[in-house]
Amino acid sequence: MTARSAFPIFTVLRVVRLAPLPPRPPLPLVARRSRVASTLALLGALSALASPAIAAGDVEAGKAMFAARCASCHAVGPMATSGFGPQLNRVVNRRAGSLPDYDYSTAMKQSGIVWDDKTLATFIANPGKTVPGTKMRFWGIGNERKVADLLAYLHTFK
Ligand code: HEC
Repeated sequence: MTARSAFPIFTVLRVVRLAPLPPRPPLPLVARRSRVASTLALLGALSALASPAIAAGDVEAGKAMFAARCASCHAVGPMATSGFGPQLNRVVNRRAGSLPDYDYSTAMKQSGIVWDDKTLATFIANPGKTVPGTKMRFWGIGNERKVADLLAYLHTFK
């Protein structure tokens, strides 16, 4: 680089140096605190959006839902055995199609699913789409709130 071509750059740097930005006045402490608080509140709201309120399901409402929509085929509780459908005790964290005393469809056994809140919610919302070929004949429950309630109830059978 010759001195000539470098010249304009120095000029620009000089100009910038001559006109520095005024330093930002520090925020008073209270304003800073409330900024942190509102950032935290925003983060909280965002994470609530990212994970639908599954954990906040209502156990009692879920119990009623289970009785109305699932209990004709599934049992839960101390006396539960598999019948028309597999029993659903400890279904959370269970590998799909893994109970030795139930004759699952090949589709369920080979689905590779491990039941958690997310996979259960998808399955309950649309069994045939989540596990194509499943023998669970059920239209699915579209209402996220109701699915969350059901999951809260299923979580109580450890
Ligand atoms: C008409 C009977 C019927 C109804 C109603 C029904 N299911 Fe099922 N469900 C089944 C059958 C049959 C299977 C076994 C599916 C297979 O092997 O493909 C099953 C499987 C499942 C599984 C997989 C269990 C495992 O061990 O992998 C879950 C979870 C499940 N059902 C949840 C529910 C929930 C929650 C409801 C209520 C919202 C419900 N089901 C309603 C018949 C039913």
